[in-house]
Amino acid sequence: MIHIDKITKKFGKNISLNSVSCDFNAGDSIALMGANGAGKTTLIRMILGYYHADNGKILVNNMDPIKERVEILKEVSFVPQLPPPIKLSVDELLYFIEKSSNISREKIYYYVNEMSLDIKAHLHKSFFSLSGGMKQKLLIGISAAKESSIYIYDEPTANLDPRARENFYKILQERKSSSISLFVTHRIEEVKELVNREIYMDLGEIISDENI
Ligand SMILES: Nc1ncnc2c1ncn2[C@@H]1O[C@H](COP(=O)(O)OP(=O)(O)O)[C@@H](O)[C@H]1O
Ligand SMILES: [Mg+2]
Repeated sequence: MIHIDKITKKFGKNISLNSVSCDFNAGDSIALMGANGAGKTTLIRMILGYYHADNGKILVNNMDPIKERVEILKEVSFVPQLPPPIKLSVDELLYFIEKSSNISREKIYYYVNEMSLDIKAHLHKSFFSLSGGMKQKLLIGISAAKESSIYIYDEPTANLDPRARENFYKILQERKSSSISLFVTHRIEEVKELVNREIYMDLGEIISDENI
């Protein structure tokens, strides 16, 4: 479902991805690991069509991530490493998501509540003004409410307290297994139960890729 073929991405002289190849298939649940700067976030952004490749090719559900970005994003639930600087109020953001992605607000409330965030008490605040952990819980709740064939989480638990982490993993355990899940994490012990594949990156390359 995700085909990555010799992808190279440079920023100036810096090579962030050096001819990376791999395939992610239905049922894959992957822990993507490696030191800061290894290229994990860049690889995810390439899959989501943020950047043009300097070389190589990516196909997501047989589509080009840049040319068919809108179509692809319909199939993807994504929680970024850093929450985006959204200027809308929480209420406006949820309204926008309901309309654009056809997810019911009740379903979002359900999953946000599963993350132990009482979002109804914060509807009139700007998203921007929420704490880092609250933003993360809200984004996780929204991503869970959106049923997708591809779930991507870039260090999703970095801002979360231990209880919220547990809630997050509980939500993931209930997920159907025909999707692809990709977790960037530094805590392999936390995702061990959830993943069937471990990939390590270093210096823009995949240095190991094992089914477990
Ligand atoms: N938008 C960007 N502009 C310039 N350099 C970038 C950009 N994004 C990433 N890089 C560089 O690419 C390398 C890989 O970064 P990244 O993919 O964020 O690593 P990771 O997520 O594994 O920590 C780093 O050296 C980083 O500085
Ligand atoms: Mg990163």
